[in-house]
Amino acid sequence: MDPLSVPAAIEARRSVKHFKPDPIDSATLDRLIELTLTSPSSWNLQPWRIVLVQDAARRQALHEVAFRQPQVLEAPVTFVFAVDVRAWERDLPPMVEQARAAGAWPDAYCEVVKNVAPQGQHGLDGAGLLREYAIKDAMIAATHTVLAAQSLGLGTTFMNGYVEAGVKEVIGAADRPEIAIAVLLPVGHPLELPANPGRFARGERVFEERLPPG
Ligand SMILES: Cc1cc2nc3c(=O)[nH]c(=O)nc-3n(C[C@H](O)[C@H](O)[C@H](O)COP(=O)(O)O)c2cc1C
Repeated sequence: MDPLSVPAAIEARRSVKHFKPDPIDSATLDRLIELTLTSPSSWNLQPWRIVLVQDAARRQALHEVAFRQPQVLEAPVTFVFAVDVRAWERDLPPMVEQARAAGAWPDAYCEVVKNVAPQGQHGLDGAGLLREYAIKDAMIAATHTVLAAQSLGLGTTFMNGYVEAGVKEVIGAADRPEIAIAVLLPVGHPLELPANPGRFARGERVFEERLPPG
């Protein structure tokens, strides 16, 4: 099958509740991972740490900490989108050098990023927002995964329904306070396609220039 275009993938996507046991072929899984990693992020710091859960016992454990939702048990792979909220300090220098070596960022911009990004990150830290900002980045990456998977003939469901401490235990991060979980994303071959539950009318959600009074 030819990959679906982005608009076609957006229109075809549904939250899949049940998956076939069929595995994802390794070339497709590799492509999905590559496409996920192209995602943009604040300062290009890529705070995500994506754990692929495929082992049967670990899927069962994930099922237990996800309110026994069937998707993580049935799907052959669940992408656990974790973030490391403290890694930016370590990741900043090699990221800048990579952009410099690629010729993407001139020296002057590299210096700006090296000076300004830490101020920004320390400001977020002081305001208690480092976690929120890292999670924004991870959600954008997860959205890349979702649309890429749809384009490649697979199904997904974003999942907020889990106990964070339990998921951290399953992925071996129980004693790491710098790790947070953004979302679980089971990926596989849909058993059935759920109906579209619909959306509010455009006029109720999109406004010109300013919000109407609340
Ligand atoms: C961030 C997020 C978390 C969600 N968590 C769950 C979940 O834990 N379990 C579930 O079955 N569906 C979950 N959903 C799916 C939503 O219920 C679904 O997107 C919504 O009903 C619209 O249906 P559609 O995705 O088929 O358009 C989640 C969706 C998002 C975006």
